Amino acid sequence: MADHDVLVVGAGLAGMRAAISAYRSGADVAMMSKVHPVRSHSNAAQGGINAALGGGEDSVDSHIYDTVKGSDYLGDQDAIELMCREAPQEIINLEHMGVIFNRDDEGRLGTRAFGGASYARTFFVADITGQAILHVMYEQILKAGVRSYEEWFVTDLIIEDGECRGVIAMEMLTGKIKAVTAKAVILATGGVGRAFEPSTNALICTGDGMALAYRAGSTLLDMEMVQYHPTTLAGNGVLLTEAARGEGAYLINSEGERFMEKYAPKMKELASRDVVSRSEATEIEEGRGVDGCVFLDLRHLGAETIMTRLKYIHEVAYDFAGVDMVTQPVPIRPGQHYIMGGLKTDVDTRAWDVTGTAGWDGVKGLFAAGETACVSVHGGNRLGANSLLETVVFGKIAGEKAVEYARDQKDFSISDSHLAATKERIQGLFDRADNGERTAAIRLELGQIMNEHMAVFRNEEGMQTAAAKVRELQERYKALPVIHKGAVYNTDLIFHMELGNMLDCAEAICAGGLLRKESRGAHFRKDMPERDDENWMKHTAVTYSEEGAQVTTLPVAMTRWEPQKRVY
Ligand code: FUM
Repeated sequence: MADHDVLVVGAGLAGMRAAISAYRSGADVAMMSKVHPVRSHSNAAQGGINAALGGGEDSVDSHIYDTVKGSDYLGDQDAIELMCREAPQEIINLEHMGVIFNRDDEGRLGTRAFGGASYARTFFVADITGQAILHVMYEQILKAGVRSYEEWFVTDLIIEDGECRGVIAMEMLTGKIKAVTAKAVILATGGVGRAFEPSTNALICTGDGMALAYRAGSTLLDMEMVQYHPTTLAGNGVLLTEAARGEGAYLINSEGERFMEKYAPKMKELASRDVVSRSEATEIEEGRGVDGCVFLDLRHLGAETIMTRLKYIHEVAYDFAGVDMVTQPVPIRPGQHYIMGGLKTDVDTRAWDVTGTAGWDGVKGLFAAGETACVSVHGGNRLGANSLLETVVFGKIAGEKAVEYARDQKDFSISDSHLAATKERIQGLFDRADNGERTAAIRLELGQIMNEHMAVFRNEEGMQTAAAKVRELQERYKALPVIHKGAVYNTDLIFHMELGNMLDCAEAICAGGLLRKESRGAHFRKDMPERDDENWMKHTAVTYSEEGAQVTTLPVAMTRWEPQKRVY
């Protein structure tokens, strides 16, 4: 008999929303995470969550259009439409769960402006929106009594007859490896930002769910679409929220010029992220930066606005760069922030092609939501504050659809061979000779090469260099030892397995980038600077093979919006 109807792997916003909705659908649901749920990376989301709920001239159609345009027309329009239509109700759901959103002067839910949006439609809790929602969701999980496997690391998916029947996981406290079975599994393990160095992402963002499913036969979509956020702090790359620009902050160069007026005359600092990041990189390359940075200037906003609406980033800039943003401009630069690509899912969050006609494979019974997944609602470039929205909308759907699927499944028991194979593999890691290689060193080399060649500007030669380096690191990984042999919280072993996941995702990122022979969204090739709708209005799709990533393309779902030149 299966341990659970539904098992959610990952306990960020997508995972917890999925678990809450599966619970409310009447299933036996459990959640599993390698960290305590409130340490999930959703905690780091700062600026807000989008929905056309504020009234005035805003509309759901405007939100859809902005998102389609923001995606550089690569987003699937049916999925975008669904997300934007569900958005207002999800804000109300969050409010009813207990999220204390900021209010306007009349006491209504307040909004702020965000990049690429025609209207101010970002709901927020100061500059700690993700943290606020995450804690409220965890309260809901506790209230529901959902079983939570906290600090369990998933090593493998259990696949039998092409169906996912649970996971093999290690309880980090004891080192015990166990099988946890379920009729449906939802992957909500976040992105793979840490394959880049630096990144705004938590150290735990290592692409675990993407890599597990990819190796098991699922398809990774548009992995080359890597978002660089325009305002990451000099030195350590910590995020300084786009909300600063939403509240009115400027970007200035070494000459004090508000340079976005040249690149995006209408939207200026609130153009889409790919456009702003490229503009900053151009300023820096052309010699109008300082120490590889330009500046975020908030001085004209005044202390009260900064200390009430942007208090957290004030603290970050002060603590890590010694800059008081009330009186000084803050040195910033574009930094890796988000992966638009991920596990291909349909709008029901299924990570397999049930009809068998659309040409993508996958593992039955496997669902995905949040950054792990590519539905695709972000296409070539995600709009700020659409990621929190994606987590709750598709997390909710994932919970419901996984329960529907689980109800149709007969009970089963699994073969002992899965657990035995994982134990043998891990023992093999412990038995490896110490050849002097270290996980941290390979991880750093990976992050640096990706940040050098798969960043804001790319070209064929650079991407080939990155791909070759990733292959070299994968070879070295095959002999990489685990030095610490203990059972209790063996982070050396966990970091080792995370590195393997990051390397596989990085291979897919390079493969997608090399395949796409145009510039679109975040994928800007200096050697092919134009968007080519005739040949490349397509998703890149990568599948795993022992010989290396296999690439192909899949169609983009277009409904109402014809591609246009994208100007801000
Ligand atoms: O800038 C920010 O607050 C980030 C938001 C997001 O990535 O959606």
